[in-house]
Amino acid sequence: MSHTIIAPSILAADFANLQRDIEMINNSEADWFHLDVMDGVFVPNISFGMPVIKSIAVHAKKTLDVHLMIVDPDRYIKTFADLGANILTVHYEACTHLHRTLQAIKAEGMQAGVAINPHTNVSLLEDTICDIDLVCVMSVNPGFGGQSFIENTYKKVKQLREIISANGASTKIEIDGGVTNKNAKQLVDAGADVLVAGSYVFGATNPVETIQDLKNIVK
Ligand code: DX5
Ligand code: ZN
Repeated sequence: MSHTIIAPSILAADFANLQRDIEMINNSEADWFHLDVMDGVFVPNISFGMPVIKSIAVHAKKTLDVHLMIVDPDRYIKTFADLGANILTVHYEACTHLHRTLQAIKAEGMQAGVAINPHTNVSLLEDTICDIDLVCVMSVNPGFGGQSFIENTYKKVKQLREIISANGASTKIEIDGGVTNKNAKQLVDAGADVLVAGSYVFGATNPVETIQDLKNIVK
């Protein structure tokens, strides 16, 4: 089985002790930092933006996986590249010209991700799949951490895995929302490559052990 990537979501970190929480992830078995940017328009919540990501990038020693939950993301592609984002994910539902947006992200030297809301069918990505480095399958409605996992996600992951294989693409599948030790194995068996976990990691008494447990479950 290939290596499953664990990406703790900073949305659930303690923002008054952000450096401590970043060092915790640096010293854990986690692979990526998942950074949720919300604009209060695309989703009904506002999280954090450029100054916070700039500060995180100074200390973070792992891949920066930036998830934009914002309208008209093309406006900020260069800004996030300059801040140090390695992967930039935009929402399918927020892009009128998705193919153009993907090319613009790659032209800035980043990997291009597309996130899909729970109501968005994976078949809508068939014509762009070879241009997408990462599909982020939302397993909750975006906007908040700590929500319950939507069970229909397993079916979507299997369908998406088939589309990726049928097109000979190397796209990774990321699952975002409500990931715990209860669903991690089933998600990887369905075809997931990357598991984002926010409240499950940061709400744990021992986050480093919790990350290690997730890794062991999906081995
Ligand atoms: C939700 C965000 C997620 C969130 C996941 O809109 O995109 O990344 O932080 O949090 P949990 O793991 O608590 O559901
Ligand atoms: Zn996210």
